[in-house]
Amino acid sequence: MRQIVVTGGGTGIGRAIAGSFAAQGDQVVITGRRKDVLERTAAELGPGVTAVAFDATDPGQVEAALDALPAQVDVLVNNAGGNTDIGAPAPTGLAGLAAAWRANLDANVLSAVLVTAALRPRLAAGGAVVSVSSIAAHRGGSGSYGAAKAAVEVWNLTLAQDLGKDRITANVVAPGFVEATEFFGGAMTEQRRAALIAQTSTGRAGTPADIAGTVLFLASPAAGHLTGQTLHVNGGSLAGR
Ligand SMILES: NC(=O)c1ccc[n+]([C@@H]2O[C@H](COP(=O)([O-])OP(=O)(O)OC[C@H]3O[C@@H](n4cnc5c(N)ncnc54)[C@H](OP(=O)(O)O)[C@@H]3O)[C@@H](O)[C@H]2O)c1
Repeated sequence: MRQIVVTGGGTGIGRAIAGSFAAQGDQVVITGRRKDVLERTAAELGPGVTAVAFDATDPGQVEAALDALPAQVDVLVNNAGGNTDIGAPAPTGLAGLAAAWRANLDANVLSAVLVTAALRPRLAAGGAVVSVSSIAAHRGGSGSYGAAKAAVEVWNLTLAQDLGKDRITANVVAPGFVEATEFFGGAMTEQRRAALIAQTSTGRAGTPADIAGTVLFLASPAAGHLTGQTLHVNGGSLAGR
């Protein structure tokens, strides 16, 4: 039975990823900051899923969580993150700007870097690390969030080189607009939603299951020679390159 860790697995895309691994018989640990949300999701997804609460941006909390995480990890999914600008007041002054940029870099880059470094000695040969980026890394309009996700994609190149010698792959999935998550809070309008869907070739929003399917493939033996790549799952709204 494979041991899977999905950060940000309590909601949205991470929850769907955790559920998909559990459905194929893997043992899954979901992580996030909100213990109550994680425990509810774990109970709903079934006995193959357990919850460990910690803030992935805090080195001390990541270290402290290690005892509760599996001794061997076959698949790590760095999914925790989001656009910390959404719902936040516009920053004022350079200090405010710095704080806003740091928040997105912490939430999206440091979260993946710290959890991966902490679990690196436990990653098993034949395993996989999959990190979640965003279409925002490939087009303008989202400032520090897009920059942070672009950094995840570049960091993944070095990670793939490091892990390759141990027969472990490292890839990135870059979703487009995905509904049924907490990502946008209350910030999505009907007009914006219609515009995002109009950009796709599929004529619909992405679902958490769309992303989970790609993550499962990247973590499967079928993808054993696929590493250091970014896969775009956006309904064709932006050409991958
Ligand atoms: N939805 C979209 O349209 C979309 C598009 C492109 C990329 N993405 C990316 O997809 C990933 C999943 O997001 P989602 O759409 O499923 O939104 P979501 O429902 O808000 O999920 C994000 C998860 O990450 C966790 N998280 C955030 N910061 C964390 C931290 N510091 N430490 C630990 N856990 C943390 C959250 O749990 P806690 O709050 O409990 O910590 C939450 O469960 C994110 O990386 C996001 O940037 C989403």
